[in-house]
Amino acid sequence: MTVRLRPEIAAVPPYQQGRPAPQGGYKLSSNENPFPPLPAVVEAVKREAERVNRYPRPGAPDLRAALAAELSVDVERVLIGDGSASLLQQLIHAVAGPGDEVIYAWRSFDAYPLFVRMGGATPIEVPVDADHAHDLDAMADAITERTRAVIVCSPNNPTGTIVDREALDAFIARVPADVLIMLDEAYIEFVREQTVDGIALQRAHDNLVVLRTFSKAHGLAGLRVGYAVGDPAVLRGADMAGVPLSQTALASAAAIAALEHVGETFARIEALADQRDALWQRLVDAGVAVPRPYGNFFWIPSSPGQEDAIHDILDANRIVAKVFTDGTRISVGEPAADEHILAAATAIQALQ
Ligand SMILES: Cc1ncc(COP(=O)(O)O)c(C=O)c1O
Repeated sequence: MTVRLRPEIAAVPPYQQGRPAPQGGYKLSSNENPFPPLPAVVEAVKREAERVNRYPRPGAPDLRAALAAELSVDVERVLIGDGSASLLQQLIHAVAGPGDEVIYAWRSFDAYPLFVRMGGATPIEVPVDADHAHDLDAMADAITERTRAVIVCSPNNPTGTIVDREALDAFIARVPADVLIMLDEAYIEFVREQTVDGIALQRAHDNLVVLRTFSKAHGLAGLRVGYAVGDPAVLRGADMAGVPLSQTALASAAAIAALEHVGETFARIEALADQRDALWQRLVDAGVAVPRPYGNFFWIPSSPGQEDAIHDILDANRIVAKVFTDGTRISVGEPAADEHILAAATAIQALQ
């Protein structure tokens, strides 16, 4: 006799975390920031480490206040989470249970189906269009009276595409006011074009919550800290669905230090975006069919059944990337990794 798991849990395939880097190679599988943490961040974490015998203050109020000031929103409109993944899960569980549906693009962030299924709700996956971008019309068409939430990921992990502002406005106009819209902007800092302003959009729509993270552009992936901006009543629901005191004081102190030194971070983001754009141009010139990347990663489409060959190519080029049945996602990493990415991507393209 074994313990009986809930069928929803037993059916969920495990989340595939990016594999570690090979000896002397490059870990480009989790869209992490290749820069080490800023010295001020390290100092803040060290200072806070002296107090880890104590629980953190509930809701990370200092970070919440700092973010509210930074974004010019009321403090009640900010919720801190131990990573934006946690906040996504909390929001989904706050609104969708058995019999309910949650719509998102596919392929998109592979944690979405996990979170939806774990809550007992039904995922509705709307294929991305031929350009690997959200098909917002088709997503709106998929809304039924069972829909409780829709997720828009921009830039989209793993395809790297962004949503157009007018198309998003038109989409939001078609979403009923009692259906939650989650705008996942985990990679927004890497977008240089004038595009959607998630915070302004949130002000205009109570059913929209913006999700952001310190894991990517701010380089704090190891500390797990993200935030949501939205209507206080919706955020309260999400808070209830979370674990109390899960936002650590170490993470809050690091995030506050990162905000205080955001100029240094932006210089790094600029460098990564320059590197991304230059490498994308080289990939295109080499004939690799890679959609224009707006985040800190490239999407190399492939066909089902090529996964083993792709892993061999990645191993031969000493990089670890995330291989899916329909493509490979390779993060922008250390500049020295660029030649490895170019060689691997060209070899993957040759399989097509
Ligand atoms: C689209 C997207 N959203 C959310 C997250 C979660 O980030 P975190 O939980 O580290 O804040 C990720 C991480 O990979 C992501 O790619």
